[in-house]
Amino acid sequence: MISPGVTTRTETTPIDAAQAIDAGQAIDAAQAIDAAEAMGASGAAGSAREPAATGAPATTREPVATGEATPATEDEFLEVRRGPTVRHLLSIADLDREGILEIMRLSDAFAEVAQRPIPKVPALRGRTVATVFMEPSTRTRLSFETAAKRLSADVMTFTAATSAAVKGESLRDTVETIDAMGIDAMVIRHQASGAPLRVTDWIGASVINAGDGTHEHPTQALLDCYTIREALTERRGGEVPADLTGLRIAIVGDIKHSRVARSNVLAFSALGAEVMLVAPPTLMPASLEGWPVTATGDLDGTLGELDVVYLLRIQSERLGEVLLPSLDEYHWRYGLTKARAAALKPEAIVMHPGPMIRGVEIAPEVADLPATLVTRQVRNGVLVRMAVLFHLLGSGVV
Ligand code: CP
Repeated sequence: MISPGVTTRTETTPIDAAQAIDAGQAIDAAQAIDAAEAMGASGAAGSAREPAATGAPATTREPVATGEATPATEDEFLEVRRGPTVRHLLSIADLDREGILEIMRLSDAFAEVAQRPIPKVPALRGRTVATVFMEPSTRTRLSFETAAKRLSADVMTFTAATSAAVKGESLRDTVETIDAMGIDAMVIRHQASGAPLRVTDWIGASVINAGDGTHEHPTQALLDCYTIREALTERRGGEVPADLTGLRIAIVGDIKHSRVARSNVLAFSALGAEVMLVAPPTLMPASLEGWPVTATGDLDGTLGELDVVYLLRIQSERLGEVLLPSLDEYHWRYGLTKARAAALKPEAIVMHPGPMIRGVEIAPEVADLPATLVTRQVRNGVLVRMAVLFHLLGSGVV
């Protein structure tokens, strides 16, 4: 357990880090999803405390068809229609440093598209992207749907609350049903860590993790890297940095329950940044062994040395027990107040994945400062998700 004021650091490679982060989660996700299926539990049903994934998933599949042969069976027809490759994005560990940088470069190309009078390209014409959200979302679902439409894909939207899941249909039957209608990618959010990995066993389409339990939220981390890179480019007068080397990034708040923190630790460290976790002991993971981070409970002692302050929401829906005396106490000890914002370096930036809870992790006045890049993160989310969809499905011209 990390204590306030105590700093530790362990050097690891990003893949080691992914394994350490996964291994720190206790229960095997596949078993848990199987158990839920056996009980007939629907993915939409609000299960209690959800399990976590273990082990770095093998998420890349071999090419399935060339598209040249005449299909003999229905399955073969579906494989041919889907094109030459089927791949997934379940974790930042699915992308190495070069893979992350490739997404950044593709996002730059889509930033240029976004400036056009009609910000749309035909790259995914004829493809279908389904969004399957078993947990609430504003940013991720809408930006994936916008991204798919700007690539000219057809979009199928599944909303758990108005679906047959409320009648008890299982996650497996739900995703197999959607897949049978002919989709190329499924963007899935689920309250159980490891659910997207399990779905890759059930459907033929590419699976993109839009947030699974306390495990990962890889596209959030990619858009965060892109936003930091963009801010750094502006700071350097237009010179695009090779990566995030030399930056000190503090992730502050409910690390224990945050899938965003796990993906961001992997992504920021893969790009060379120094990552510090700042939280009260009750909101730190039980073990940080193997995580490429330092950790402290002393936010005030770190402020002057940071380039990026990345704030997290307290995940009240996942707490399950009382881990804080009160939200007022949390704001007083760990919130980014006006006084704390004034103690940052002039060029430091403030980020938050959203939704922000003003008055808890961030003071309302700080949320509205120009240095707080929350809406820029959202804007970049569309570009980065276009890049991810194109990377997984595309072969056309941007
Ligand atoms: N950052 C994020 O995942 O936001 P939503 O829950 O609104 O998608």
